[in-house]
Amino acid sequence: MNIVTIVGSIRKESYNMQLAKTIQERYNTIMNMEFADIRSLPHFDQDEENNPPESVRKFKESIANADGVIIITPEYNWSIPGVLKNAIDWASRVDKVFVGKPVMAAGVSIGMAGTLRAQLNLREILTGIQANLLPPSGNEVLINFAPQKFDDQAGRLTDEMTLAFLDTVMDKFGEFVRSSKNAQLQGSYMG
Ligand SMILES: Cc1cc2nc3c(=O)[nH]c(=O)nc-3n(C[C@H](O)[C@H](O)[C@H](O)COP(=O)(O)O)c2cc1C
Repeated sequence: MNIVTIVGSIRKESYNMQLAKTIQERYNTIMNMEFADIRSLPHFDQDEENNPPESVRKFKESIANADGVIIITPEYNWSIPGVLKNAIDWASRVDKVFVGKPVMAAGVSIGMAGTLRAQLNLREILTGIQANLLPPSGNEVLINFAPQKFDDQAGRLTDEMTLAFLDTVMDKFGEFVRSSKNAQLQGSYMG
């Protein structure tokens, strides 16, 4: 299973990136995970969408070729960061690479809310671009109070209860991606 992960924070010590790396290592037997580079994407420009720069082309291609996408986002001002929205805007145009793509959302905050508002916003955006979202019930990865749950030295999530919950969600996401793929194969076979 090939998964592409988009992290909505581009800062070096990002907790959201630490979560992404934890996921990459912890579930490496069930999936091969790569990171999408959103740092190098230029601002979305509709004049360029039919002939986008190489960084955009590569970014879109990585999503198009993936079996599923994980979006891990901080909350900025009750919403998702501009860099993430910019990346989604590029991906939403011309060859609309998110249409039907299985997507899971997750996020980490320092404070109490665990990115709840950002993820609600993200779900609206992804619904608008017809992504195939892992249903939220039982699958909302909202990690709050990050400094208590991550090991800064190791740069990984270490809170046992959170990891146990993550195991259940990743299990369901794996199944969700596999069944979406089977449904697609069946659809193409049926013609
Ligand atoms: C511009 C900006 C806006 C923020 N707005 C919120 C917010 O609305 N809600 C929240 O819980 N945290 C907010 N934060 C704090 C982030 O949760 C915190 O910086 C977090 O560590 C960012 O994720 P990262 O560690 O992956 O970079 C904001 C931070 C920044 C820089």
